[in-house]
Amino acid sequence: MNILVIGGGGREAALVYKIAQSNKVKKLFCAPGNAGIAEHATLVPIAADQIDALFLFAKNNHIDLTVVGPELPLSLGIVDRFREAELRIFGPSAAAAQIETSKAFSKRFMQKYKIPTPEAEVMPLHEAYERIRTVTMPIVLKMDGLAEGKGVCIAQNVHEAEAALAAFKGRGGTQILLERFLTGVEATFFVLADHDKGIPFFTAQDYKRLLDGDLGPNTGGMGSISPSPTITSALEKEIMATIVEPTLKGLVAEGAPYQGILYVGLMLTAEGPFVLEFNARLGDPEAQSVLRRLQTDWIDIVDAVLEHRLDQLQLAWSNETAVAVVLASAGYPGPYKKGEVILGLDRINDPVVTPFHSGTKKEGDQILTNGGRVLCLTALGKDQQEARERAYRAVDRVSFHGMQYRKDIGK
Ligand code: GLY
Repeated sequence: MNILVIGGGGREAALVYKIAQSNKVKKLFCAPGNAGIAEHATLVPIAADQIDALFLFAKNNHIDLTVVGPELPLSLGIVDRFREAELRIFGPSAAAAQIETSKAFSKRFMQKYKIPTPEAEVMPLHEAYERIRTVTMPIVLKMDGLAEGKGVCIAQNVHEAEAALAAFKGRGGTQILLERFLTGVEATFFVLADHDKGIPFFTAQDYKRLLDGDLGPNTGGMGSISPSPTITSALEKEIMATIVEPTLKGLVAEGAPYQGILYVGLMLTAEGPFVLEFNARLGDPEAQSVLRRLQTDWIDIVDAVLEHRLDQLQLAWSNETAVAVVLASAGYPGPYKKGEVILGLDRINDPVVTPFHSGTKKEGDQILTNGGRVLCLTALGKDQQEARERAYRAVDRVSFHGMQYRKDIGK
């Protein structure tokens, strides 16, 4: 098979690494990819939002399967476009992906289908300036629409809420959600979904805040562990019954059936699991820890979904725990500099550590930083502690100017 992976971050590095292991693959391409991805796939210089160019590339290069990594091409309707031309593609349609791409749609949907989620109000941004003076703090503010991981803020007071609204305005936000703040443990639950059928795929825990101890601003994710230590099999059954099944049936009823990987971001509270957000894709950096543990051929998984055979799919996982630590540029998640030389990647030489590249590019013999999140060092171990020690041993060998990372992933 000829396969095209769309995207160029750490998640796509993990997808390419996994897909390259399949003996069903003839040619593997990634658009646009990065310096690490180039070790396993031919890079195609087309950005992930260039739907027409990606479509032409797939047609002209006899691509048998396209796998979409990020949400942007999903929101632009890449799956609809490919399906109309009967090109095989793995991911949800633009209508189904609204569960991620419009927080207002997602909240109204959950309210309509009685899926447990914190209460929230949706309003135009200008009205939110008044409303934040009357709500109980802390409050969660969310921007409707895609915000590259910067669309959520937990405000402790009116001053912080105003700053969040100003930032959302700067990103073009017009609709805002004000959501009740819940306390509990966050966990991510991933489902393989095909219309009204879904099976549990895996669990992970993401470390969203920039700094140790869950302090500092939200980021796209500074590390992950898999499996999640908090999701037991009893809880998994509860999540499937109270959240996943009504969600998939609800999307079918709305005329937006879901096919692909559904990311359920949860807050586990004393009153049970609540959905904080849905995403229409694999998480980044959850994909890195999870795909290191997955033993089943990725192509078999995709085929089972696309051919409506999910009930026959047997998933095999390593019993080991994976810990993934993100190395980020100075300034991230705010403005950051690119082009710093990365040293020490050749010193990692530990077969249980995979240095997935997130934002890198090659110039001559050098690998340079090329994004906010630069690398995601991912290690396996017999337990969380062993995986964590191995990941951090690798971190100690790598450096670039201004490198920042959390020291408590998997602690
Ligand atoms: N790690 C969170 C996300 O991928 O959205």
